[in-house]
Amino acid sequence: MRTRLSEEQELLKETVHQFAAEVVAPIAKEVDESGEFPKDFFPQAAELGLAGVAIPEQYGGSGMDTVSYCITIEEISRYCATSGVILSVNNSLVCGPLLEFGSEEQKREYLTPLASGKKLGCFALTEPGAGSDAGSLRTMARRDGDEYILNGNKVFITSGTDADLALVFATVDLELKHRGITAFIVPCDTPGFRRGSKEYKLGVNGSGTTELVFEDMRVPAAQRLGEEGEGFKIAMRALDGGRIGIAAQAIGIARGAFEEALIYAQEREQFGKPLARFQAIQFYLADMSTELDAARFLTWKAAWTKDTRGRCTLEAAQAKLFASEMAQRTTNKALQIHGGYGYTREYNVERYFRDARITEIYEGTSEIQKMVIAAAVLAD
Ligand code: CAA
Repeated sequence: MRTRLSEEQELLKETVHQFAAEVVAPIAKEVDESGEFPKDFFPQAAELGLAGVAIPEQYGGSGMDTVSYCITIEEISRYCATSGVILSVNNSLVCGPLLEFGSEEQKREYLTPLASGKKLGCFALTEPGAGSDAGSLRTMARRDGDEYILNGNKVFITSGTDADLALVFATVDLELKHRGITAFIVPCDTPGFRRGSKEYKLGVNGSGTTELVFEDMRVPAAQRLGEEGEGFKIAMRALDGGRIGIAAQAIGIARGAFEEALIYAQEREQFGKPLARFQAIQFYLADMSTELDAARFLTWKAAWTKDTRGRCTLEAAQAKLFASEMAQRTTNKALQIHGGYGYTREYNVERYFRDARITEIYEGTSEIQKMVIAAAVLAD
């Protein structure tokens, strides 16, 4: 594994950092407070080639690697976790499986507009009764000639309010359990597709988390992704990539909290000296800095494993578990360093603290990551 970024990756980091600082940072507070989806962000990010960072150029992407994708998500999430997750879902949960499992025609028709950012994607797996236990989903897909008829509903769908296209998982036969699950590419203007109620959340407030409802929605068989019954595997493979993105998002949030706590600790004086001169605060900063680097190494290792070995289930789960829990600890310490001011809306750290919490939940809770890690190490 490379421990230094290539010239191309360094350049990307610099470019995305500048974009994030100049374009994303100014909208972050407003997006959080209004809870509105940042409509301009995705097309602007797409202009820089960030809608499909690791997707080959022939399909509208930037043809870079998964470490580059991690750099992108970290830099954006440093200022705005909402924007980070919108980008992460499009890149890894929608473009990723289309690239891996799509036919040539599906890649041209659906992947290319998503990876170039002309369209925005969402990933519709979770249901009211199937969260951690994704294999128990109940949305039905009944074959009818050259079409499938889908009925059911999904919840907690990131970007569901604004997406143009959804990757929908439904079962062709409940008796088959996870082996009946099948994936479908569904444009959101398909008759029978309806956006349901939007969630009001603790953090990542602008990410457009919504319910999706399918009522006798007819989907041509040509829009099935992969084979009948292959959907659960497709979802799990997509989530391996997605978890790397969420780990990078957690690192971005934690880095924001760390950088701002570092400045505050040197400026704020109590008992006649800056907070940074107190050993208690120094120890907080030392832990934060060390854990951030550790999380980044785990995440880049997972990214590198994905690019070189393909299967990265263990590494992605380790990275997401550690990075998300690190973000919780780091944002908590940053808030503590800011004292009473940190608890107010005047400073960003309270937002970072709230935004970090979801990284321990979505794309598989910490408990699910531990199940995945334990299964992998026991199988060795
Ligand atoms: N890659 C490929 N195949 C995989 C796989 C992977 N990573 N993980 C499992 N599989 C295969 C297994 O090999 C097995 O194959 P066979 O049918 O051939 O036996 C099959 O899938 C079933 O595997 P398990 O028995 O391990 O499945 P399970 O029902 O016990 O579930 C689980 C495993 C890890 C708990 C899984 O259900 C899971 O990841 N749950 C969490 C769901 C989740 O992360 N949801 C997130 C929703 S999306 C989201 O959050 C997006 C957002 O908003 C940002």
